[in-house]
Amino acid sequence: MMTPPQEERHKRVKELHRLIHHHNERYYQLDAPEISDAEYDALLRELQLLESRYPELLTADSPTQRVGAAPLSKFEPAQHEVPMLSLSNVFDEKALADFDRRVHERLDLPGSQAITYVAEPKLDGLAVSLLYESGDFVRGATRGDGQTGEDITVNLRTIRAIPLSLQGQGWPKRLEVRGEVYMPKAGFDALNKRAMTQGEKTFANPRNAAAGSLRQLDSKITASRPLDFFTYGLGVYERGDLPATSHYALLMRLKGWGFPVSHDVQCVEGVEGCLKFYRAIEKRRNELEYEIDGVVYKVDSLQDQEKLGFISRAPRWATAHKFAPQEQTTEVLAVEFQVGRTGALTPVARLKPVFVGGVTVSNATLHNMDEVQRKDVRVGDAVFVRRAGDVIPEIPRVVFEKRPTSTHPVVLPTHCPICCSPVEHLAGQAVARCTGGLFCPAQRKESLKHFASRQAMDIDGLGSELIEQLVDLDYVHDPSDLYHLTYEKLLTLELVAEKTAQNLLTALEASKKTTRDRFLFGLGIPGVGRVLAETLGQTFPNFDQLMDIKLGQFFPLAELEALPGVGPKMAKTLMNCYREKPGTLVNADSLDAWLESCHAKLPKSVVTGLTKQFSIQTFAETCARAGHFLQQKTIRIPGVSHVIAHHICDFFANEKNRAVIRRLFEAGIHWDEQGGENVSSSLAGKTYVITGILTGMSRDEAKKQLQLLGAKVTSSVSKKTTAVIVGEAPGSKKDKAEALNVQILDEAAFMKLIE
Ligand code: IVH
Repeated sequence: MMTPPQEERHKRVKELHRLIHHHNERYYQLDAPEISDAEYDALLRELQLLESRYPELLTADSPTQRVGAAPLSKFEPAQHEVPMLSLSNVFDEKALADFDRRVHERLDLPGSQAITYVAEPKLDGLAVSLLYESGDFVRGATRGDGQTGEDITVNLRTIRAIPLSLQGQGWPKRLEVRGEVYMPKAGFDALNKRAMTQGEKTFANPRNAAAGSLRQLDSKITASRPLDFFTYGLGVYERGDLPATSHYALLMRLKGWGFPVSHDVQCVEGVEGCLKFYRAIEKRRNELEYEIDGVVYKVDSLQDQEKLGFISRAPRWATAHKFAPQEQTTEVLAVEFQVGRTGALTPVARLKPVFVGGVTVSNATLHNMDEVQRKDVRVGDAVFVRRAGDVIPEIPRVVFEKRPTSTHPVVLPTHCPICCSPVEHLAGQAVARCTGGLFCPAQRKESLKHFASRQAMDIDGLGSELIEQLVDLDYVHDPSDLYHLTYEKLLTLELVAEKTAQNLLTALEASKKTTRDRFLFGLGIPGVGRVLAETLGQTFPNFDQLMDIKLGQFFPLAELEALPGVGPKMAKTLMNCYREKPGTLVNADSLDAWLESCHAKLPKSVVTGLTKQFSIQTFAETCARAGHFLQQKTIRIPGVSHVIAHHICDFFANEKNRAVIRRLFEAGIHWDEQGGENVSSSLAGKTYVITGILTGMSRDEAKKQLQLLGAKVTSSVSKKTTAVIVGEAPGSKKDKAEALNVQILDEAAFMKLIE
């Protein structure tokens, strides 16, 4: 007989078990926690306290048993009653179609009958087996060689997503559940961050982190790691007790018994359905909370699975469709330097070609010299190459274990590899620059590409290849030269025939009518993107005023601040002295004496520095200029730092740039005085393509009309095209529009549009 307090305690412990199980389920299976982590911890602590005071209340299925047990000296071997198999792989659509054909043949089904598959994410973690007897978790093991794994029960008990006892009903007396232990990306990042701040070794990827965490002899370490679990199938179960007839239904049963199943599991029909699933999940791959390396397709009918059976070590009823690897190793053959629009030198690694992320990669950016030094990349090194989606391939790290003895460090050139001008690498700045300006053909090419680009002057048809030729042939030195190109000159270019030349001239002519924002952006002032160009334009509606802009208008004390030993604080002090004693400076005996007479205590070093560099006259002038700017309204533009303000002022102060701008205006560049995009027009920002013969007007006229209404007219159809205007006898552009699901307008609809 239990005494009443004993009975109370017993009841409370049961209640705590129930509550903790319930909240585990809310958290891990339903993704819908009802209480905060702190409240959850409080429940767990209460249970731990009761169990430590009254050990008779501690049972093997207690949720407190997840905190880790005493360290083991080694893992015991664990025999798998049903071997843990692997999967065959397919890497492309053809191989998948072959797999599907073989399934049809073995099941004796006509090709026309689509097979139902369950498509699942292929989780990048570790396969484990979990054995339940009479509903209790009794043993957990790794896969090992498929026959024998390691008994990691104590470690698996610490993973909250793994039920210690089964919920619901209908489970077989003996049940082996299989699935993947993994580390969610967020948990992996946090773990590595913590390791970094504590100077510990970091893990290369979530899979390694999950493996390292599971293979700890001290399960307390495993308990502290953010591990998670998804189930994807069964091992042993008592014959006759199979609780479902399809794989999907089986997963749902497992879910009901307390096992997490990925939300991304889906039933699909035939190869088409499989591919649709594959493409959709590949697109979302980076957004998923866990790493996957492909998808798995499984024949849904369990009866069919049985018929299909196994071949060597893999089932015939399932296959893995792997993504192209996003990371590979290769060798650095050389490091060269590319020169960008603003002269920035970017080190680029030339690599031994390697297939990664679905394409062959032979170059990877190293960003800047700081990065090269931080990663210690050398010519001859074995390196990892990473490519995810459309991003430029990168080198995440060197494989130091494979570094050959004869590697060469990367050296920043002293002179530009394109124009031989000196390279400038200012202290404290990551970027080194070629000082050649527009004299440097590389900078010239890049600035012309930027000027002609869609977001800038939008010169349709003037792409990289043409610009390369125009610069190499010395036809074009600066953007204004573009507007003096002739038909005959264009015809001398490679790949330019009559029609292209004519189109290009038309596009150049059309680009002359632009907007202030586009023009300002197109000038390519370092640090001035589209948004800043727009704000600058609004701040200075009068372009002449912008051309005469001075740094002091942004930062009145900038000139003083830049003096040796003088920072923002000292500049203020100096300015206060100057304003306190107006007129005394010019009449002082010496600058030294004047500075001494200031109330504020100026450090000796500043006084000597200033007197060495300045006469009274020039120092007074500097102060007077600052005073003048202080009286004016200071321009405040969010995002304009000292550095960017410098770039803007230097750009417009540069005589060569001023001449180019003048010549561009002379060539006919103009915009409506309100300046910005014609936002009042309903067609602003829209893009059209015209194809075929229009009866009411010429294509050029149609184009002009659209442009007048603020729309852009381009020559090729893409997903970004708003609509394609189709006249009689349209070309392939109409087909492309249909394929891309782009709206098609006939001439009548077009006329309506421009009305
Ligand atoms: S089924 C008999 N489903 O892939 C079939 N495996 O290459 C057994 N994996 O060792 C596996 N996600 O670690 C299956 N949704 C999934 C999976 C999956 C990841 C792993 C598992 C297995 C390996 C086989």
